[in-house]
Amino acid sequence: MTDAPYSRITGTGGYLPERIMTNAELEAVVDTSDAWIRERTGIEQRRIAADGETTCDLAEVASRQAMDAAGVTPQELDLILVATTTPDKIFPSTATLLQARLGNHGAPAFDLQAVCTGFVYALSVADQFIKTGMAKTVLVVGAETLSRITNWEDRNTCVLFGDGAGAVVLQASESPGILSTRIHADGQYETLLHVPSGPSRLPATDDVAERTMCMKGNEVFKVAVNTLSQIAADILSDNRISPDQLDWLVPHQANLRIINATARKLKLSPDQTVVTVDRHANTSSASIPLALNEAVRDGRIQKGELILLEAFGGGFTWGAALLRF
Ligand code: UT7
Repeated sequence: MTDAPYSRITGTGGYLPERIMTNAELEAVVDTSDAWIRERTGIEQRRIAADGETTCDLAEVASRQAMDAAGVTPQELDLILVATTTPDKIFPSTATLLQARLGNHGAPAFDLQAVCTGFVYALSVADQFIKTGMAKTVLVVGAETLSRITNWEDRNTCVLFGDGAGAVVLQASESPGILSTRIHADGQYETLLHVPSGPSRLPATDDVAERTMCMKGNEVFKVAVNTLSQIAADILSDNRISPDQLDWLVPHQANLRIINATARKLKLSPDQTVVTVDRHANTSSASIPLALNEAVRDGRIQKGELILLEAFGGGFTWGAALLRF
């Protein structure tokens, strides 16, 4: 155990590709409407990576911003974690590609795949490394180019997702910091939200439906709402904290109706909930660090405030983190 037994976020960063795709553009591609998308999801637009722009490209900008904010150099990183479902390559990991870009040599670097819960999983892993003294300064990234695994002919999914990256630097600290994390999975829900093909099953298939996301949205929705309310209650009770002590909810951004349902259960006002889904859509593992970064940079989230992060995604996976910023 080190003499600094807690971990604390000391810097945040985020990056969105330049190209904005509006709902109106999607009306021209599939049988949908701006009104339907806004009403059912809260999404107004999303960002789409340029041709040739990769997950690592997005991750690099977000990471450099987070390191600048924390005042750490790449050489000081002793662990690099990238949560992603859309890695640049099957291997090496996006984390090692990012490591090379940053000019860090020797720190362990690996990707973590927990779909939309990826960032919370990665934060939890980073927290354990710091608490056990295995690392002092960790770069934790959530980065995605979901547009590459989107079926642009499927209105059930193509209106929902976007590209982006968010990052935090997590450092050993004498005061908390991360109070606790909870991560869970139940693999029995595989086919409710998945990409059917992969390098082992149907490699290099030409069938678009096999190599893009498919989702039974309504079924996912119901489990997501119940599960997120439960995990929020569980992590607060783990820490003997009541919902009225929370300053902020920074949720995974899949659907405004899911976000509002969780906030209502916690009796949090809309201005205590960070919402980016209207402009970013669902960026999977990037959505929480992007939302956190936005609220930190615009001055809403202040040092010392109590924040609940929560996420739900394919697998199913779900998780939460309670932290003092
Ligand atoms: O991030 C990981 C976790 N993911 C989530 O949490 C996503 C969870 N699910 C959702 O957010 C919502 O279920 C959706 C936004 C995906 C769908 O909203 P919904 O209110 O559950 O709609 P639905 O699937 O029950 O479909 C209602 C109707 C259907 O038409 P009929 O059968 O009632 O005639 C759909 O065919 O809406 C239709 N529909 C659309 N209409 C216009 C489905 N997609 C579209 C669309 N535009 N894009």
